Amino acid sequence: MDPRFAETVEFLRARIPVPPVVGVILGSGLGDFAAAVEDRVEIPYAQIPGFPASAVVGHAGTLVAGTLAGVPIVVLAGRIHYYEGHPMSLVVTPARVLGLLGCRDVIVTNAAGGIDTRFSAGDLMLISDHVNLFGTNPLIGPNEDSLGARFPDMSDAYRADLRVLAKAVARKIRVPLREGVYVGVTGPSYETPAEIRAFRTLGASAVGMSTVPEVIALSHMGVGVLGVSCITNMAAGVLKQPLRHDEVLETTRRVKDRFVRLLSALVEAMGKGRSSDRPVVEPARRAKRPARKATSGPRRGAKPAVRRGRAAR
Ligand code: HPA
Repeated sequence: MDPRFAETVEFLRARIPVPPVVGVILGSGLGDFAAAVEDRVEIPYAQIPGFPASAVVGHAGTLVAGTLAGVPIVVLAGRIHYYEGHPMSLVVTPARVLGLLGCRDVIVTNAAGGIDTRFSAGDLMLISDHVNLFGTNPLIGPNEDSLGARFPDMSDAYRADLRVLAKAVARKIRVPLREGVYVGVTGPSYETPAEIRAFRTLGASAVGMSTVPEVIALSHMGVGVLGVSCITNMAAGVLKQPLRHDEVLETTRRVKDRFVRLLSALVEAMGKGRSSDRPVVEPARRAKRPARKATSGPRRGAKPAVRRGRAAR
């Protein structure tokens, strides 16, 4: 165990009844999901050694551990942002701790501005990939080999198998889910209309001030990531109106029920087995395929080709 995290992890292990399988990081105004956790233990960040406290309105700053649909989970209600002035190493500490507690997959959520003009405020977007415009990277500095490799691959950071699963789950519970690329910026000022046009040219569908550092740190550790953005507003210049943080919080209140339903169903589905054991084909499509001879397919339990090995922990 990396000595920087040993005290934090030991403190939490002593207080968390069951080791978590799935972790959830909740974005601005999305903290209500934590209330869905059963048999929960709530620990304010301020009491956790090594955890930075978040001061942003709409970020509760509480770790909630328990179960959801029988799946052991740890929820981080509130996150640390780079724009608060914390070093990147501290920004990603909570995400690192989820990995060290044993979460094999983490759902990362955020509030984001919609760049894709087909989106509207209140839409939920599955993150297919990101563009890092923070101008820095949480892995800068000596590599901690016990956490992961020096040059981690990011080509499947938002795991394809988890996205397939998420789309199937969303369809089943009838929650509309967009999909797109998230561009991460430092903030705290919102973007200019010219920046938003530039990001659109770069292929981004949504913009926000979080998520990217955590996803890099989680990918470094071999933890599977599923990302969901709540489009709380259309990005600067898309509509003829100024951007306000209250609007971000107002929209999260409006979509709260849909968001909690989606997240709960995702946790339940993700808890059914290691993501590497999950079929990479949507169940609905699988049913339409002609039956294969038992001998011609991959061995039962064989790893799907899209998965890569995870770092030893
Ligand atoms: N820009 C950046 N971050 C955001 C936005 C936005 O428009 N909305 C919510 N978070």
